[in-house]
This record gives sequence, C-alpha cells and structure tokens, in this order.
Amino acid sequence: MSTDPMRSALSLEVVDGIAVITFDAPAPVNALNSRLAGEFDAIFAQLEGDDAIRAAVLCSGKADSWIAGADIEELAAITSAADAENLSRSGQRMLDRLSALHKPVVAAIHGACLGGGLEVALACHWRVLSDHPKSVCALPEVQLGLLPGAGGTQRLPRLIGLQAALDLILTGKTVRPRKARTLGLVDDLVHPAILRAVAMQRARELADGRRTRVQRRSGATELLLEDNPVGRAVVFRQAREQVQKKTRGAYPAPFAAIEAVAEGYANGIARGLDAEARAFGRLAMTDVCRQLTFLFFATTALKKDSGVANADVVARPVRRLGIVGGGFMGAGIATVAVQHDTLVRIKDASLERITGALRAVRAVLEEQRRRKRRTRLEMDDTLARVSGGTDLTGFRRADLVIEAVFEDLAVKRGVLAEIEAVAPEAIFASNTSTIPIAQLAETAARPERVVGMHFFSPVHKMPLLEVITAPTTSDETVATAVAYGKQLGKTVIVVRDGPGFYVNRMLAPYLNEAGALLDDGASIEAIDAALLAYGFPVGPITLLDEVGLDIAGKSGAIMVDAFGDRMVPSRTLQRVIESGRTGRKGGRGFHTYDEGKRGAPDASVYALTPAGASRRAFADGDMQDRTVLPMLNEAVRCLEDGVLRSPRDGDVGAVFGIGYPPFRGGPFRTIDTLGAAEVVRRLEALDTRFPGRFAPAARLRDMAARGERFYPASGRPL
Ligand code: 3HC
Repeated sequence: MSTDPMRSALSLEVVDGIAVITFDAPAPVNALNSRLAGEFDAIFAQLEGDDAIRAAVLCSGKADSWIAGADIEELAAITSAADAENLSRSGQRMLDRLSALHKPVVAAIHGACLGGGLEVALACHWRVLSDHPKSVCALPEVQLGLLPGAGGTQRLPRLIGLQAALDLILTGKTVRPRKARTLGLVDDLVHPAILRAVAMQRARELADGRRTRVQRRSGATELLLEDNPVGRAVVFRQAREQVQKKTRGAYPAPFAAIEAVAEGYANGIARGLDAEARAFGRLAMTDVCRQLTFLFFATTALKKDSGVANADVVARPVRRLGIVGGGFMGAGIATVAVQHDTLVRIKDASLERITGALRAVRAVLEEQRRRKRRTRLEMDDTLARVSGGTDLTGFRRADLVIEAVFEDLAVKRGVLAEIEAVAPEAIFASNTSTIPIAQLAETAARPERVVGMHFFSPVHKMPLLEVITAPTTSDETVATAVAYGKQLGKTVIVVRDGPGFYVNRMLAPYLNEAGALLDDGASIEAIDAALLAYGFPVGPITLLDEVGLDIAGKSGAIMVDAFGDRMVPSRTLQRVIESGRTGRKGGRGFHTYDEGKRGAPDASVYALTPAGASRRAFADGDMQDRTVLPMLNEAVRCLEDGVLRSPRDGDVGAVFGIGYPPFRGGPFRTIDTLGAAEVVRRLEALDTRFPGRFAPAARLRDMAARGERFYPASGRPL
C-alpha cells in the first residue's frame, strides 16, 4: 500500500466486462471524506459512459476492513451545523447516484463495514460478505452522538424491515456475518477466499438479468405491525419509550434517528433524507457528540500506546497463561483468554473449585453458541484450550501467570514464591484490587517481573484493564501486560501503584458520600435516582450491594489508612456491615433479594443510620454534587500524584471501569465543561458544610486561578 497522501483512493480495472473498483485510501482505513466525492463522481461517470463495462464490483484494498464510515477527523473539525448538514447531503447525493446507476454494482465486503461504509453497501445492488470474524457490519453513529447521515435511516428499514433496522440504528450494535445473512443485510455469505469470484459472478448475473435484486419478504407479524401506518406508529412509540428508558433522555441522537425514519415512512424518502441531513447537522454540534468523539479518539490512541515511554521495548508474546484461583475472577479471565487464542491452565485448591471454574467458562461459551455467535465445533475447540488441576502441572511453560486468589498479602506472596520456583521465566500479575503491587513484589526473587492486572467484573463484559506498575516493574513486563490486555480486547490504562490504584480510589469518595447521604436522612431510592439521572448505569447504593458490602468495607479501611479523613466511610455502611449484611451475594444488603433477584430497598436499614427511620428530601443537584465532585477531585489528585499518566487515561478509566456517563466524556472533561473555578467554588462550599471531605486538590485551585483546562477548548481534543 502506498502512503502518498495525495494519491487516489479509488482505482478501476475492467475484467471481462466487469469493473473492479478498489477502494484503498492513503490511510490506515478507508473513510469517506469530502475529497473522495470527486473521485466517486469520476468513477460513476466512467461506469455510465463506458459501454465495455456491464457491471461493477466494489472491493477494499485493505486487509481487514472494508469501509470504516465517514471520516471522523473531518467530522470533528466541522464548526457549524450547516457544514455538517452539507456533508450529510453530499453523502446522500453520492449514494443516490450509486443506487440509481443503470449498471449493477456489487459490494464485495470483507472486514469492518461501518457507518457510512454500510450505507455505501446499502446503496449497492447486491452485497456479498465474507464469513470471517473480521467482517462486522454496524451503524455505530449513535455511539458518536450522530445518526446515519448518508441515507441509512431510509435504506436500511426498506431492506431489512423497520424493527430490525431500528434495532441497529438506535444501538449501533455490531452484526456478525451469519446474523447479517439472516437479517437480509447481505445477500450472500461466502468464504473469504472466494469473495471476489462470487461477487464477479453475481455482477455478471445481475447484468445478464439472470438474477434480480432480492426484495424483502416480511414475516406475518412484521406485516401486521410494519406495513401499515397504525402498526408503524406502535413500533415508533415503543422505540421512543425504550430509548427514553435506556438513555434517560441524555442522548438526543437515537430520538432524532427515529424521527428521520418516521418522516421517510410518513412523507416519502426525499423528506426522510431531508430530516436525516438536518438532524445530522444539528447533532454534530452537540456537546454529547463532542464528548463521544473524544472517547473514540482516546480509545484509538490507547490502542497504539505500548504502556512504556521507551519505544525499543518489545512485549513478550503470551501463548500460555496460568491462572491461580478459579473463583469468579479467575474463571472470568480464563473465559476471555481462551477466546483470544491462549492456552489456559487453572490451579485451585480443590477439584470442586476447578470444576466450578471450567463450568463457568463453558456457561459463557454456551451462551454465545445459543446466540449463534459460535458453532458447537468452535465452542468445543475453544473449551479445549482450558484445563485445570490442584497442582502446578502445566505452569512451567507459562508466559504469564495471573493470580486471582483471596485478597490477602501473605497468601498472594505464597503464590508468587511457588510460581517463581516452577516458572522462573513467567511474568507474574496480580489481579488484586486493593493490595499495593510494591508490597507484593518486596519478597519476590524477580520483582521486575511482578505487575498488577486489575480486571473488572464480570471480566467478559467489562472493557477496561488497569495495568499497575510498581517501582521495580520492568518496562518489558509492563509492555507485555498491556499488549496481552489488548489481545484480550480490553482498553488498557497504565497506572502507578498506590492504594486503590486509580478506579477504586476515585470511586471510594463517591460511594462514601452516598453512604453519608444515608447517614443524613436521604432515602436509598432518592440517592440512586439522582445518580441515575446524572447518567450512571446504576445508583451508588445498588452498586455497593453488587460489589459486596464486606468487600467495600475492607477496601474502605485501606483507603482511610492511606488517605485519612477524606476517605472515612459512612457510619451507615459500617453499621450495615456489622449487622451481617453482605449485599446481593448474601441475599441481604440495602435491598431485599429473592433468589438473587433484587427487590425493593430495605427500609429496615434506616434504623441503622444516624438519622434513624425517618427520611427527608434532598435536591437531586445537591446529592449529585456531594457524590460526584469529590470523585472528580480525587481523579485530579491521582493525576497530581502521578498515579495517572494523563487526563485521557483518567477519563477512559472512569467511563469504561465504572460507567461514568460517556456523554460527559469523563471526570476531567466534566471539570473542563464546568470550569475549574466553578468546581473549586462548589467544593469549597461543600467543605464549609462538611469539613474535611471536600477540600479542592491543589492542582484544581491552580487551574482555577489561571483559568486553565485539561484539554484544548477547541479543535482536536488529543
Ligand atoms: N474516520 C477516520 N479515521 C478512522 C475511522 C473513521 N471512521 N475509523 C478508523 N480510523 C482511523 C483511526 O483513528 C486510526 O488512526 P491512526 O492510526 O492514525 O490513529 C486508524 O484508522 C486505525 O484505527 P484503529 O486503531 O481503531 O484500528 P482497528 O483495526 O482496531 O479498528 C475500526 C478499525 C473497526 C474501523 C475502528 O477504527 C472503528 O470502529 N472505527 C470507527 C467506525 C465508526 O464509528 N464509523 C462511523 C463514522 S460516522 C459515519 O459514518 C457517519 C455517516 O453516517 C455519514
């Protein structure tokens, strides 16, 4: 591939009357930008004007991706709604022209077919997709705060049906090859080796009239619901309700997408396209879009970050992984590892525990098989990569060993010594969430090989990995932990060792303050509702039940030891723990539980609070400030202390680790939005009301005094 930025992205060669158009932009992926419009026009003119061409096939010149959508860099640089709207209209025009060509165009898709890329495919006359794990289709625009802006809101429902289309447009979810075929998103699914040949064949058949474009056949329920205005009104109403329930109104894009789709059905495609373009322009200027785009840039930058400053350091490949401790976390790590080509050996104290761990791995894979994400054969192959036992058989050749045993320093040091004896070459990672890595490494024979890998639970769902470096950890060890985390599909941030590392440390004052609100007489429902309204996926009191009250208590004690008064847990939490409640796992916490299912808040808890049984009302804003501001403040302290390398890592860590509202961009982005001076003002006011817990970090005060921000006020954020 040539990297000359000025060379053409599109090329055309004619093979036996079929034009093979290859899209190979001078960039890592094919993205649609305004420079390309002219190139596409020229290609279309050639197709129309050259009688020797009967049909065309559109391929990608990239190994693993087809078209990744509109150019996000270009979108991020737009400064007016009118410009964004124009970009959408020019994309629509280009694809209208493609769709109206008299000669059939077949999309030969291998690799990522996303956003505007899928819209290109939708405008083609036939779609052949390679049956390969890299081939994924999606309209991820809502995840950037946008809606499909090149006709997707009109073409997709007409191709696969209204409900199926809304499901993709409103969630941005990824569709894998077999599902794409079932949905009717693509017409053929073929082995990658014959993709081009089959696409050429289809192009010939369409040109000869031996094949016609497939028309969608609706099922009976679809016909009842979708093919008449009354039924569609029901579908749209349900969609709006679902979006409202899921997003609590924080994200405007899905609502705008529903309106654009509805407009197309009510008043025709031209009006639908108009609504789509206007909404695209409007949404591109929203703060939500800016924050979500920032998160895209931040996660993309982290993919390239080796975790160490020295570019010469090479990560060691991890092919064999040993896991000590087959509990919930150990089994979770094993589940993800086997799916990413690692041979896994688990060690635990008893065969029952090993069986439990293997069963947990199987359960997740079974679920994927049930959802048709993998075949039975693939599932069996994957399961064959994990085994276990009560001794260290199989650990000798491990490249990496992760311990996930009980949170006790002596126990973990014992495991480390055993591993160092049998596998002297292996890197040793602790999955601790509270024990400083430096303390663990103190007794190590090879402390340079000791590192922290803090996975979040449940491991197969949570996207973040915190890699923790102690002063003795070598660069090679860090780079290996980071590279392996990425291999597992995780977004990885590297943090310096310290109590609670980053994520649990910034979470602590937030949870403590939620408890303090209970001390003061707020109700469980009201506290959780206020923070759900702020944008968290679960409220803090429910989160405490999920984490486990005993665990929260233990890590709370470590925080107080390390940071003193500002981390003192609430009286309520202490008393609730003393009362023997442990949260969901014990069937009793701040809520009642019935066979593991969370019920109503348990009002009997109030008798344990200093305020007693009676509850009083607090304003949502007050509860949000009391819980969120100390969390932001602690994040800044983590930056001050060097625990965090950058605000970027802190923002990504909070969003991916604890579900900090993505539309706010992260704690540091929130501070920039409010302004450091305003954050300091509010923290000081709280510190006057509750001395000792809210004193602003020195860095925040400095920034407030100088009017500084963490990120540039305009332009590319990173
Ligand atoms: N625009 C601009 N640059 C893009 C891009 C896009 N749509 N997609 C990827 N890139 C760039 C990345 O920034 C990165 O650049 P860099 O190397 O200079 O930092 C490079 O391509 C490689 O990307 P990744 O490191 O992410 O590579 P991966 O192989 O891990 O992933 C991908 C590839 C699956 C395509 C992933 O990058 C991705 O999901 N991209 C975003 C897709 C997306 O959101 N598309 C919708 C855009 S909005 C739209 O289409 C609007 C339309 O409806 C009008």
